[in-house]
Amino acid sequence: MNHDKLNAEERLALAEADSRQSNGEYFGNIVREQIARRSLLKGFGVATGAAMVPAIFAEGKAHAAAHGAALTFTPILPNGLDQITVPVGYTHNVVVAWGDPMFPGVPAFDLNAQTPAKQNQQFGFNCDFLVQMPLPPWFTRPSRLRSWALGMQFQRLFTKPTRKALLWVNHEYTSGTEMFPGYTDANPTADQVNIELAAHAGSLVTIENTAQGWVVDKSSVFNRRITGETPMKIDGPAAGSPLLQTSTDPTGRTVNGMLNNCGGGWTPWGTILTAEENFDQYFANRAGASAEKQAFYARLPAPSGASERKWERFHDRFDLGKEPNEFAKFGYVVEIDPYDPTSTPVKHTALGRIKHEAASMTLSKAGNAVVYSGDDARFEYLYKFVSAGQFSSADREGNMSLLSEGTLYVAKFNADGTGVWMPLVAGVGPLTAEAGFASQADVCVNTRKAADLLGATKMDRPEDVDVSPVTGKVYMACTNNSARNAVAADAGEVKANPRLGNRWGHIVEISETNADNAAVTFNWEILMLCGDPAIASQATYFAGFDPSKVSKLACPDNLDFDLDGNLWIATDGMPNAPGFTGLNDGIFAVPVEGPDRGHVRQFLSSVPGCEVASLKHSTDERTLFATIQHPGEGAGLPNPQSAWPDGTNNPPRPAVVAVRHLANRKIGS
Ligand code: FEO
Ligand code: CA
Ligand code: CA
Repeated sequence: MNHDKLNAEERLALAEADSRQSNGEYFGNIVREQIARRSLLKGFGVATGAAMVPAIFAEGKAHAAAHGAALTFTPILPNGLDQITVPVGYTHNVVVAWGDPMFPGVPAFDLNAQTPAKQNQQFGFNCDFLVQMPLPPWFTRPSRLRSWALGMQFQRLFTKPTRKALLWVNHEYTSGTEMFPGYTDANPTADQVNIELAAHAGSLVTIENTAQGWVVDKSSVFNRRITGETPMKIDGPAAGSPLLQTSTDPTGRTVNGMLNNCGGGWTPWGTILTAEENFDQYFANRAGASAEKQAFYARLPAPSGASERKWERFHDRFDLGKEPNEFAKFGYVVEIDPYDPTSTPVKHTALGRIKHEAASMTLSKAGNAVVYSGDDARFEYLYKFVSAGQFSSADREGNMSLLSEGTLYVAKFNADGTGVWMPLVAGVGPLTAEAGFASQADVCVNTRKAADLLGATKMDRPEDVDVSPVTGKVYMACTNNSARNAVAADAGEVKANPRLGNRWGHIVEISETNADNAAVTFNWEILMLCGDPAIASQATYFAGFDPSKVSKLACPDNLDFDLDGNLWIATDGMPNAPGFTGLNDGIFAVPVEGPDRGHVRQFLSSVPGCEVASLKHSTDERTLFATIQHPGEGAGLPNPQSAWPDGTNNPPRPAVVAVRHLANRKIGS
């Protein structure tokens, strides 16, 4: 979401914040390849269970050594065209767009005849995080799950072209003015509200690689819509707490739907993580809640009166005066099993309740699940969760409960380039009962306040976080912070967010101690200060690389690594940054190791009014998927500023694109 368009909300949040300060044969070949690669490496035998875990990183290293890390594509020039631009030698196709039928028999999209029932079976609005999960040809039924689970740890290492795959896509938010002809903000209809609820959350589509590009297979049993109404479980320390009990759920362990799912991640046991971000905007009437409840929510408040969307007129659960605890059921990382169409999504309260941008998972040296997540608002924090238990390649069901119990940390960046992960544990340090943290449920629901008390470092809007598969280093995109207009009191905060009026954003590189992602200390440095290097006053920095040779970029948002350890960056809001007027958001690639470290090159340019909300390499690295979110946003129907992807006289539709090399080469080479 382009937060610069949410100024009223951001101002409110800021003011409140400042008040405190194949077949069996095919699979066998893959396993044999992995074992062969692993034998290249000293110190990593063929092992089982948790002891096998480090081999995942080791295999990444072997891959990089074998294939080199060079990016050789010719960068494109930034532009403002109403079409997708990719480098010479590359092509792209639109895989799926808002309103496309996902199941057999669903009628074709008709802007003037939408219904909630149709939207429940169509691809949702404003696509964001996406990930391609492997679907080998032999894996045709969910009942094959057990044998598949054993192969999941290799999912990033497939090197053979895949014919079919699963594609998970978040649907972050909706805008009535872009969806309904004649929509009026003051008076949405019940149908419009219910269509918007149905257009939220996420889609799982089966896609097929054809001569025309990647296309949707509507007949697949795996296709699934998750919406703002889908029943979900709640687990972790806050599950069952009185904080989460409502009139429709006295247990405090269930919820209908997830909202504003922005970033996400995936796990080595083959599940998807999807993260709720700006969930506060869906709720209303904070002033109608008790004084005690209002105080409890003060650090991440819902609107005081009516919400912008007015959903509370049709659904009592969005009205805090009527249902004060429903609000506490949103703001979490949700885990979904794409290989079981009957599975119930789980909201993991152990990972905290914030405006989660990402949920990027890796494994510690001992095999703990480690999930990084930024809280995307101005002056908010970076978090990481370390599971109590360890990953086991032989126990998929056991892995599914790893995110239910563990330690949540928040980051403190010191001025000397060191840093500390501070545990958020009720009863420890300042997190006393008197301070409002009688139990871990309080920490998991009121996470920002707990992090305040520990003195976490206020960042310039932490968006995506991603982990290099080659080095294990962690990269955080701080997208921008135009409100950073005074030098902070904390020297670490100043060093980690070095520019006042930061309209262009930056990327921080974090090296965990002993290269162990479960470490409680780290070293950090600025990888990049984005902007236009030709404008001296922007004070850009590209890891020391010659600035005259890089593609200029601004507002880094989503990140992805290829298996060679090159960092890929999608931008959101670049045209709003000084020096970038008239240029569309895009995708950029940059090596982070070796002599080309900092050599940024633009790979894709999007269309007017959109953001490139997410990007992800296919498992075989022959495709780069990207989500084009809110094309043409701004003027609304019937005169949007883009006609992408369907062309003149058609409404713009948020969509997923797939970019490939014409000779089917690895992306970027
Ligand atoms: Fe939804 Fe932080 O972008
Ligand atoms: Ca963003
Ligand atoms: Ca984002």
